[in-house]
Amino acid sequence: EISAPVIALDGPSASGKGTVASMVAAQLGYHYLDSGALYRLTALAALRAGVALDDAPRVAALAAALPARFENGRVFLNEDDVTDAIRTEEASAGASRVAVLADVRAALLARQRAWRRFPGLVADGRDMGSVVFPSATVKVFLTASAEARAERRYKQLIEKGSAANMPALLHDLQARDERDAQRSEAPLRQCEDALQVDTTLMDIAEAVNAVMAIVEEKLPDAV
Ligand code: CDP
Ligand code: CDP
Repeated sequence: EISAPVIALDGPSASGKGTVASMVAAQLGYHYLDSGALYRLTALAALRAGVALDDAPRVAALAAALPARFENGRVFLNEDDVTDAIRTEEASAGASRVAVLADVRAALLARQRAWRRFPGLVADGRDMGSVVFPSATVKVFLTASAEARAERRYKQLIEKGSAANMPALLHDLQARDERDAQRSEAPLRQCEDALQVDTTLMDIAEAVNAVMAIVEEKLPDAV
């Protein structure tokens, strides 16, 4: 039995994973999994239910039963549109806190694997190539300097009309990178069989082209 091809895109915050992965998926006509959204939804569900973010059994129970829906680029928890609520700094920090819990990661595993459907899947996160889809045909590690990544988050906030403080952003980003890289469960790191794309000096179109060139090489039938 053959399974649908997977393109795994992993890397640190604001390396461009989400933007690049969704554009590559659109070009190929593939499905797109934003795995980080599941950790963000879990954190938001816990915050809203008053469950402590380090209460592993209760947070894992929330993750296992997450009433989440993805529809036309929007994300729902039950009937509630939480697309913006899961992107706040509180939800981002919360996501990386619940993500250290082995029971939470296990609870989200089957849900992530269920996204693997024909004609194929582009999945982004931290452990797409290492844990969730180790048999992925294409594995890319997307990265960029911490300064370039903080600058991108800064621009995103300014464009939304929100207040933004560059030193604070850089600090939060490095704290999250540190937690993601140092945890014992599925830490963020480049797999041996992943190809690195450093987007520090690339715009979005260049980053998409760099990933598409790898896809053409490894998965010529898809292109
Ligand atoms: O998913 P991830 O956190 O890795 O990053 P993203 O949300 O796709 O990208 C963060 C921001 O950086 C977005 O505003 C992108 O438009 C921007 N970006 C960029 O300016 N240049 C790139 N090469 C990649 C992303
Ligand atoms: O967009 P950004 O890269 O900032 O974050 P994200 O991909 O939405 O992930 C939010 C948090 O969820 C990360 O800081 C990780 O701690 C966690 N995460 C994870 O542990 N494993 C994944 N496959 C995806 C996200």
